[in-house]
Amino acid sequence: MIDGRIELRSDTMTQPNARMREAMSGAAVGDDVCGEDPTINALEEKAARVSGKEAALFVASGTMGNLVSLLAQTRPGQEIIAEENCHILSHECGGYARLGGLTASPVPSRRGVMDPAMVESRIREDDIHQPRTAVICIENTHNEAGGAVVPLGNLRELRALADTRGLRIHMDGARIFNAAAALGVSVDKIAEFVDSVTFCLSKGLGAPVGAIVAGSASFIEEARRVRKLVGGGMRQAGVLAAAGLIALDGVRDRLERDHRNATRLAECVREIRGLRLDPDDVQTNMVYVDVSALGISASGFAQECASRLVNLLPVGPTRIRMVTHQDVDDAEVPLAASIFADLAETIMASTR
Ligand SMILES: Cc1ncc(COP(=O)(O)O)c(C=O)c1O
Repeated sequence: MIDGRIELRSDTMTQPNARMREAMSGAAVGDDVCGEDPTINALEEKAARVSGKEAALFVASGTMGNLVSLLAQTRPGQEIIAEENCHILSHECGGYARLGGLTASPVPSRRGVMDPAMVESRIREDDIHQPRTAVICIENTHNEAGGAVVPLGNLRELRALADTRGLRIHMDGARIFNAAAALGVSVDKIAEFVDSVTFCLSKGLGAPVGAIVAGSASFIEEARRVRKLVGGGMRQAGVLAAAGLIALDGVRDRLERDHRNATRLAECVREIRGLRLDPDDVQTNMVYVDVSALGISASGFAQECASRLVNLLPVGPTRIRMVTHQDVDDAEVPLAASIFADLAETIMASTR
C-alpha cells in the first residue's frame, strides 16, 4: 500500500525504503561533475559490473539515459530504427528529433519484438538523398506491449544484422531487470547484444531517482559530455546514488515476487465477468485488462476503482494497466481482485 491505497498504476510509484533513506542521509558526496563523488563512482562501477560493460554513467532519469545514449552515438541528420510504440518515440517529447536532430523509422512488432528482416528493410542505402541509419533501438521489457520480454534469440539476430551493416544498438532497458528475471538470466546476458543500455534504478528497483547508461569506456566518456550538455551534471548527487546502490541489491528475488503477483492478479481478474485478459500475456509485472464488455470507459472504471482506494491507469478508451511492484504486497492482490469483482457486478446490475 502507499498512503492507504493499493497502488497499481505504475512501478514508478514505489517509495524509497528505510534502508535507502538511511543510506542517503549518510552518503559520502563530492562534486560529480569533477568525478569526485565517491558514492556515484561506486554506483557507476557496480552498474558497469552488473551490466557486463566497461563503464557506466548515473543519469537523472530513463528519458535522460535514452537521450544521452542516442546523442552520444549519432550525428544530427542521421536516423534511428525503433519499434513503433516504444517509449523513445512516443513518451520522451521527441527528444531524439528536437535535441538530437535525428529522424526515426518506426517498425511494427509482435509484442515489442521486431522482425530482423523488417528491421533490415529499413536500413538506408548509401544514397545521397537519404539520411544515414545509425542506431537500432530495442525496448526490453516493452512497456506498451504489456511488459513483454524480447527473447535472446531475437537479440542475437539483431546483433548480427547490426554488425553486418555497421550499425549500433541501443537498448531502452528501463526494466531490463524484469526481463532478466523472466528469462532466468543475469542482466549482462541481455546487455551483451547491445552497444549501449539504459536501465532505471527507480521503477521496480525502488530507488527514488535515477537511471544508468552503460557501454564501452569511450562511449561513456562521450555520454558524460552529452549529459553535461543537457544539464544533467548533478554535483553532490551521491545522496541519490546511495539509494541506487541499495536498489541493485537482491533484485532478482524482489522482481520474481512482483511477477508472481502479476500472474496471480491476472488469474483472479480472468474470473471476473466483464473484464477481459489473457493471463498468458502476462510475462513480467504488467497486467493489461479490457473493460469494454462492462460498457464503461477505462477512465470511468479507473475512477470507480480510485474511489475504492485502488489506483489503476487507463491507457486508451477501453484498456487499463496494472503494475505490481515492491509496494504491492501479496495480500493486496486478492483484495484488489475482490474490489474489481464487486465493482463489475455493480456496473452490470446498474445497466441491466
Ligand atoms: C520503457 C521505458 N523507458 C523509459 C522510461 C523513462 O523513464 P523516466 O520516467 O525515468 O524518464 C520509461 C518510464 O516509464 C519506460 O517505461
